[in-house]
Amino acid sequence: MLPFFASENWLVASLSCHFTVCEGSQVPTLHKACNAHGIYCVPLYDTLGAGAVEFVLCHAEVQIAFVEEKKIGEMLKTFPNATKYLKTIVSFGKVDPGHKEKVEQNGLSIYSWEEFLQLGGEEKFELTPKEKDDICTIMYTSGTTGDPKGVLISNKSIVTIVSAVDEFLNNSNEQLGGDDVYISYLPLAHIFDRVIEEVFIRHGASIGFWRGDVKLLVEDIGELKPTVFCAVPRVLDRIYGGLQDKITAGGFLKKTLFNVAYKYKQGNMLKGSKHEEAAAVFDKLVFTKVKRGLGGRVRLILSGAAPLSRHVEEYLRVVTCSHVLQGYGLTETCAGSFVSLPNNMSMLGTVGPPVPYVEVRLESVPEMGYDALSSETPRGEICIRGDTLFSGYYKREDLTNEVLVDGWFHTGDIGEWQSDGSMKIIDRKKNIFKLSQGEYVAVENLENIFGQTPGVDSIWVYGNSFESSLVAVVNPNKQALERWAESNGVTGDFATICEDPKAKEFVLGELTKMGKEKKLKGFELIRAVHLDPAPFDMERDLITPTYKKKRPQLLKHYQSIIDGMYKSMK
Ligand SMILES: *[C@@H]1O[C@H](CO)[C@@H](O)[C@H](O)[C@H]1NC(C)=O
Ligand SMILES: *[C@@H]1O[C@H](CO)[C@@H](O)[C@H](O)[C@H]1NC(C)=O
Ligand SMILES: *[C@@H]1O[C@H](CO)[C@@H](O)[C@H](O)[C@H]1NC(C)=O
Ligand SMILES: *[C@@H]1O[C@H](CO)[C@@H](O)[C@H](O)[C@H]1NC(C)=O
Repeated sequence: MLPFFASENWLVASLSCHFTVCEGSQVPTLHKACNAHGIYCVPLYDTLGAGAVEFVLCHAEVQIAFVEEKKIGEMLKTFPNATKYLKTIVSFGKVDPGHKEKVEQNGLSIYSWEEFLQLGGEEKFELTPKEKDDICTIMYTSGTTGDPKGVLISNKSIVTIVSAVDEFLNNSNEQLGGDDVYISYLPLAHIFDRVIEEVFIRHGASIGFWRGDVKLLVEDIGELKPTVFCAVPRVLDRIYGGLQDKITAGGFLKKTLFNVAYKYKQGNMLKGSKHEEAAAVFDKLVFTKVKRGLGGRVRLILSGAAPLSRHVEEYLRVVTCSHVLQGYGLTETCAGSFVSLPNNMSMLGTVGPPVPYVEVRLESVPEMGYDALSSETPRGEICIRGDTLFSGYYKREDLTNEVLVDGWFHTGDIGEWQSDGSMKIIDRKKNIFKLSQGEYVAVENLENIFGQTPGVDSIWVYGNSFESSLVAVVNPNKQALERWAESNGVTGDFATICEDPKAKEFVLGELTKMGKEKKLKGFELIRAVHLDPAPFDMERDLITPTYKKKRPQLLKHYQSIIDGMYKSMK
C-alpha cells in the first residue's frame, strides 16, 4: 500500500496520457490506494483539449497531482492558476532540477516517485469506513462542446458494473480466471479501460500496458499474448485493413483459399454455429494465422466508444477465432450498458441487449419522427436507470438536471429495439438541423450510411439553414484511393491524389451510389466533397478522446474549404 497523507478531502489527479510499462502499472495501484483511503482521484489526460488540464485542476480543486515524468513541463503550464489549490506534485519517475526550482518558486513541493514512497515511513494509517454512495472518482469528459464535465462516479457504480460484467461473462460461459491477460492501451482516464481493469484486478488476472505507440500496438499484442482485448473501432479498422492487405499480397492461391474458407465459416456462423465449431479445419488451416497475429490467445474482443462498421465486425467475428462483441455505454453510465451476445450473428450491427442491473427505456422524439411505442420498430432516445449511473456532474447541477430526469439518464443517442432484444444505435438526438428549404437533416445518421461507402474511412457531413444542400469532408482509404488512381492514370502521392478533381468526383460518385442504394432523399445526398489525407485527429482537436466528432471544431478547421465548396456550387 502506498504511504498516503491521511487527509479527508484531498483530491488526486494523475496526468498520464501515454503510459510506459512501469508508469502504466503505477496508476491502478494509485487508484486502489485512493479507494482505500476514500480519496477521490481525478484522471487527467492532455488530449482532453487545450487548456483542459488547467481547467480540470482548478474545477476539481486538485491538491496533489501525479504526473508522468515527461509531462511535468505540461503541468507547469497550468501555473499560476492551478497553484490556487495544487500544493504537491509527484513524478512517476524522476524530477528535473529545473522543474523542481520552478515548482518551489511557486510555493509547491515536488517529489520523485522514490522520494514519495519514503514519505510515509513506518507510519500506519487507519482506513476510514466507506459508504456505498461515496464518490470514488471524478472523470472529466470532453463532450463535444463547452467545458469538460466532471462525471461523479460512486463506489456503488463501479461495484455494480463489475458484477454485471462478471454475470455477463458467466452467462456466456466465458468466466475470467487468473490466467487471463488484458492489454491496456486506452487511457486510464477512459471509463471503459478503468472498469475492465477493475474486473481483472478482482479476478487476480494480469494487465499489460502497451508502449504508447499505435504503430507498435500489434507488436505489443504479439509479445503480451492477451486473452481479452478492448478496442475502439479505429483500432479494429486498422487491424481489418492490415489483414486485407496481407491477403491481397499473398497471391492468387492463398487469396482464393482464404475466400473459400471465409464464405464457408461465415455461412455456418450465420446458420447459428458457434465460431469454434463452424469450420474447425479451416480454423487450423487458415484462420489460426490471424489468431497468431493477435498473440494466439485472444478469446474476447470488445469494441466500444463508437460504432463499429458492420462489415468489419462480421469479418473479425469470422477470422479472429474469438468473440467480437460490440458494446455501448457512456462515462455517465459507468461504461458498458449494452453488450452483444457471443456466437449470435443476428446481433451484428447492434450493441446487444442491456447488461444485468441496467434498466432501459426509449423515449419518443416526435420532432425527428421517432416513436418509442411503434409496434413495428420502436425508436427513441435511449434512457438508462440503475445503480451504475453517475451521481451528477461535479458543481454543475444545471447540467445534471438536464440529463437526469426522474432517475432516468437521457443519453442523447437514438436507439432502435430489435425483435431479439438487442439495441441498434441509429442516430444522435442533438445533431439535427434544418436546411434552407426547411427539410430536417440528421447528420449522424447520414454519416453512418455514407461511412459504409467502400474507400471511405471517415466522413464529416456539413450543412446549415442558409444552404439547401450538404457538403462533406472525407478521409479516403489510402490503399483504395491509390488503387483507383493507378488504374485511372492519376499520379502523385496520396496527398496529391486527394487534391485531384477526378478523385473528388470519383468519391462523390461512390457516396451518391451508397446514398441512393440506402434510399436517401435528394437533399440528403452530398453535393461536394473535400478529401483530407490526414484522418480527423485529436492533435487538431477534431475528435474527442473517444473518437466522437467535435462538430464546432471541425467547422472552424474546415471553414474556408466549406465556404469554397458552397461557392463553387453557385
Ligand atoms: C487563469 O487565470 C486568468 C486570470 O485570472 C483567467 O483569465 C483564465 O481564464 C484562467 N484560466 C482558467 C483555465 O481558469
Ligand atoms: C465499495 O463497496 C464495497 C462493497 O460495497 C466495499 O467493500 C468497499 O469497502 C467500498 N469501498 C469504498 C472506497 O467505498
Ligand atoms: C455462474 O453460472 C453458473 C451456472 O449458470 C451458476 O451456478 C453460478 O452460480 C454462476 N456464478 C456466478 C458467480 O454468478
Ligand atoms: C441470439 O439471441 C437471441 C436473444 O437472446 C435469441 O433469441 C437467438 O436465438 C440467438 N441466436 C442464436 C443463433 O443463438
